[in-house]
Amino acid sequence: MKTMEEKKWHVVDSYLAQQLHQEDLALDYVLENNRKNNLPPFDVSRTQGEFLRLLVQMTNAKRILEIGTLGGYSTICMAKGLSKGGKIITLEASPAHASCANDNITNAGFDQCVSIQLGMALETLPLLQQQNELFDFFFIDADKPNNPYYLEWALKLAEPGSVIIADNVVRNGEVIDRHSTDPRIQGIRTFMDMLSQDERIDSTAIQTVGEKGYDGFVIGRVKG
Ligand code: SAH
Ligand code: DHB
Ligand code: MG
Repeated sequence: MKTMEEKKWHVVDSYLAQQLHQEDLALDYVLENNRKNNLPPFDVSRTQGEFLRLLVQMTNAKRILEIGTLGGYSTICMAKGLSKGGKIITLEASPAHASCANDNITNAGFDQCVSIQLGMALETLPLLQQQNELFDFFFIDADKPNNPYYLEWALKLAEPGSVIIADNVVRNGEVIDRHSTDPRIQGIRTFMDMLSQDERIDSTAIQTVGEKGYDGFVIGRVKG
């Protein structure tokens, strides 16, 4: 059951999306196709997706690495902000999710600039390193217990000035529970500890409310 406050967050999100964003049939298709294929509703919201798109545009990102594709909703949002010649590699462990994402991304017309890498991210990330792939923008949004490893990998594959964003770092406020037995919370907490200690990155976090509930993003910049 949603509380009155949660309902309000949802209605305000709808208001903002309607006011500020054009109808996007490709994004509508993602949600419909995901639902048909029983993908979980873990996509970023429309306004969060537009926020990602704007960050991609504002940083003039050319090479994006996403960890956690699901149906490609966030992938498509970021692809909309890419300038000509830009590329996205997105990592997904579930063949069913990857297949649905492939359909959604093709339908959106971004199959030329997006490549989906199927497999457990901790197994596909070393392949990217072997291929000497570097990225200027990262979106970390997969299994939260592995966030510390994903941060380590992002820092390996980054350049000075690269941007690192992570989703779901507040989780209804649970992030402050140091005694949490939820491995996702512990993963986020260790990730936060690393951000505070690592000299290579400068970061902050923003709490969010909306149709996805109460959560937050980390946003970081690789120094230099
Ligand atoms: N970024 C998406 C949502 C991702 S949901 C969006 O906003 O639209 C998280 C995804 O990460 C799921 O599809 C899940 O299958 C995938 N995932 C979970 N563990 C993973 C792993 N170890 N490696 C790669 N992908 C993983
Ligand atoms: C979950 C994962 C997400 O990436 C998200 O945005 C929301 C929820 C989850 O695993 O519960
Ligand atoms: Mg997420």
